[in-house]
Parts: sequence; C-alpha cells; structure tokens
Amino acid sequence: MNAPRVVLGVSGGIAAYKACELLRRFTESGHQVTVVPTEAALHFVGEATWAALSGRPAATETWESVHEVPHVRIGQNADLVVVAPATADLLAKAAHGLADDLLTNTLLTARCPVVLAPAMHTEMWEHPATQENVATLRRRGTVVLEPAVGRLTGKDTGKGRLPEPSEIFEACRRVLARGAAEQDLAGRHVVVSAGGTREPLDPVRFLGNRSSGKQGYALAATAAARGARVTLLSANAELPDPAGVDVVRVSTALQLREAAHKAVLDADAVVMAAAVADFRPAEYATGKIKKVEGVDPAPVVLVRNPDILAELSAERARPGQLVVGFAAETDDVLANGRAKLARKGCDLLVVNEVGDGKAFGQDTNAATVLAADGGETQVPHGPKEVLADAVWDAVAARLG
Ligand code: CTP
Repeated sequence: MNAPRVVLGVSGGIAAYKACELLRRFTESGHQVTVVPTEAALHFVGEATWAALSGRPAATETWESVHEVPHVRIGQNADLVVVAPATADLLAKAAHGLADDLLTNTLLTARCPVVLAPAMHTEMWEHPATQENVATLRRRGTVVLEPAVGRLTGKDTGKGRLPEPSEIFEACRRVLARGAAEQDLAGRHVVVSAGGTREPLDPVRFLGNRSSGKQGYALAATAAARGARVTLLSANAELPDPAGVDVVRVSTALQLREAAHKAVLDADAVVMAAAVADFRPAEYATGKIKKVEGVDPAPVVLVRNPDILAELSAERARPGQLVVGFAAETDDVLANGRAKLARKGCDLLVVNEVGDGKAFGQDTNAATVLAADGGETQVPHGPKEVLADAVWDAVAARLG
C-alpha cells in the first residue's frame, strides 16, 4: 500500500512548536507529509525545521512553482489534511471559504477528511463568532477537535490549549482509517460516560469497581473521528484525554448523575459505559475511621444509588434523543440483556460477558448490541475501538 499522504497545515500560534512532534509521529509511522505553514506560523517555527522533519520542502507560497498549481494539487492529492494549531483566524477563513494563502487554498480544494485542532486563548474560543464558525465547519463534516483545558501562553489557564500531539495523532489515525466513509456523526453532540464510580466511606477509603474506562474512552475517540462533538464524563479513569473531546471529571455516582443530566440537555445520544455503583455507604465519616483494639468494626450500611441510565431513558432531554446502556453479565448473557434493556427503557444495550479476565481492564472486548426495536448485532472479540464503532453504527442508523 502507498504511504498515506498527509498535509499538515500549521497556522500562526505559539503551539506551532508542538506540531513538530505531531509531524515526527506521522513520518515515523510511514506517512508522507507535506507541511503547509502560514506566513505567521513561520514566525514561530522556521521552514528549515519543517523541511528537516518531513524530509520534503515545506510548501509556503502560492506563487512558488506556479506551473505545478500548488494551491490546487496539494489539497487534491491528500488523504488527510490536519491543521494544528488552527487559530481563530484560520477557523473563520475555513468556515467562510476564504482562500488568501496556500493553506486556505488547500482547505478549499481538499476532498479528503479534514481535522482541525484549534488552539487559542479561552476568550477567543468562547467568542460567539468562533463558536458559530466551529458549528458551521462541523455541520459540513470537518472534524474540529475540542481544545484541551490547561496552561495557555503567559500566566493564563483555561480552555484553548492544543491537545497533546500523541492524541491528535491518534485522532488523525482513526479518521484516516475510516477513509472516505461518511462523517456520519457530523453536527451531532454525543455524551459518553466512562470509568467506574467511587463511593467514599471516609476521606481515605471508598467502594469502587474494576472498570478501567477503556471502552468509554474508545467510544469517545471514535465518535470524535466520525465528526461528533463529544462530552466524556470520566469517573476515575487514569487514561490520557482523547484529543478533541470535552472531558468532565466526576467521582461518585451522584456527581456523575448531576453531570449527565446537564450534559444531555442538547445531546443527540448518550452512552452510559461507566460502571456506576448501585450502592453507596449510608454514612460518610468526615475523619478517617480508626481501628480500636478489642472493638469490632461497625458494619457498613449501604443505600441505593439512583439508576442514571433509567432516569435518562425515562426523561429524554430532547425528542428523539438516543440512550444507550451497557450491561456486564456473567450468565444467561442474552436473556439477561433483553430483560435489562426492557427494564431500563433505553434504545440500545451493549451486553458484555465479564468475569475470568474478560472485558475489565483489557484492550479487547466481545459483545452483542441489542436494540429495543428488535435489532441484534454480534460484535466478535476484538479491539474496544471496533465495538465502539459498532455502537456508533447502530446509533447513527437510528438517528436518521
Ligand atoms: N447504570 C446507571 N446507574 C446505576 C447503575 C448502572 O446508569 N446506578 C448504568 C450503567 O452505566 C450501564 C447500565 O446501567 O449502562 C447497566 O448497569 P449494570 O450494573 O449491568 O445493571 P444493573 O442495573 O446494576 O443490573 P444488575 O444488578 O442486575 O447487574
């Protein structure tokens, strides 16, 4: 197979230096990369760096090698165009179809998937102009990654950081793997919960479970690659933030419930992949519970947690909102799954067989996707990303 041809656009922000690491990841994994920096980007990282790292001259000028029509050819020949960092100005130009330099010309001529990784100050990102441009681009099928939250230039912190190059690379790899397949979640907002809740007994102890969060993170990353805006409600997962996903951290079931009800207000679909504790200690000791010689420890009294999935299914925040649950079963997997689907009132239930090292903490999974409309899809044992895509296939088909 020929090396995938990637155009790496770099616009003029300080995060341009991080694009060097992204470029290195592409070239080291066998991609053929043409770097198209804007004039402003060259103030941050010079042409020599791009040429040395990509092994080809950087394309900077519309008026260079005019006989090769670079403003058209570069975009036409690409398998993927990724712009990192994408400034507010670049997003505005892309949204409005302006083409006043080589990079914006390339964006207009590209017929392949386009991934934009914005980086800017929080105020610029939150400005209605930028938000409307992002919404326009997403509606058209451009994958616009959510910026990360953290330290910005100077002393500021907030949303607007370029996601880690390793995560942008992963997002691009997924988009490339989908090839010309449709961005069938473009313009959609999806909410995914991941990980396992922790129910505290005292400041140092909690009741938890073995969920690693890998399946939920795979769902979030694959939805982003299919063009969705993704909110990931992460309960105690120790995994890197997938690029382009809004991560909301929670710990207990009650926190997850509050975050879920808020996040689903404008969501098209919600997938509850988190392992939510069914019970929590009735009492929380504000000081550490100490052992006392000769005295038996007090029993732990548990109370029921609300069933978030059942609540979300019963009170759809929007008409037509799809609700997806997960079920971990050890016996009578399909029969128990059908009964649970009916009990919880959701549209789809992903039934996993667990126990004896299956599913928890592993990179692979096998499952059956059961639908309230009678559908049933077996997903053979494979990477959690494959199961995630099967779930989104079922969701996309039903969103219409
Ligand atoms: N779930 C939830 N809130 C809870 C418990 C579970 O939203 N308090 C969700 C999980 O995120 C998952 C689904 O419900 O999507 C199934 O969870 P599971 O623990 O398998 O089901 P239970 O209702 O606990 O059934 P059982 O006790 O029979 O296993």
